Amino acid sequence: MRRWLVVIPVALSAAVSGGCMVQVDEVAAPRVPTAAAGGGGAGVGFVGGVQPVLLEFCGQCHSPGSKSGDIDLTTYDSVLASGMIVGGAPDNSKLVAMMETKAMPPPGSPKPTPEQIAVVRAWVAAGAQAD
Ligand code: HEC
Repeated sequence: MRRWLVVIPVALSAAVSGGCMVQVDEVAAPRVPTAAAGGGGAGVGFVGGVQPVLLEFCGQCHSPGSKSGDIDLTTYDSVLASGMIVGGAPDNSKLVAMMETKAMPPPGSPKPTPEQIAVVRAWVAAGAQAD
């Protein structure tokens, strides 16, 4: 189940260097090399795709030591325990909605790129599997 992790970043970087959606945010936010673009039917892993995004953009406030809103987003179990995602139903998942509406991270914090948000959506849509 690890093979696609190698294949997808190549496809992703090809898509990015083909370059239609370069945003200012991408300059400030280091890209997560293993993040999948989502879609295409390929699985999106938690450890390789979603967790790095959550750790980078949410972990500072949503960790065991700083559980803003009583939510820890640093591990698979804690993300599920937050009750903020519904596997298979990204449109019913508050975590996805808050990222897509830019309610989270809050103003003043670095923002994930649209591609990174799409990774989270794709992972939830695919059932929010452990990996
Ligand atoms: C700078 C600190 C900070 C960062 C970074 C941050 N949050 Fe939050 N978050 C908060 C605070 C404070 C609350 C609780 C108060 C509130 O709901 O506004 C909260 C609440 C939430 C909630 C719960 C809302 C509810 O109705 O209970 C979700 C979901 C959430 N954040 C998701 C995220 C995600 C996903 C990220 C990263 C993409 C993120 N947050 C990044 C500070 C942060």
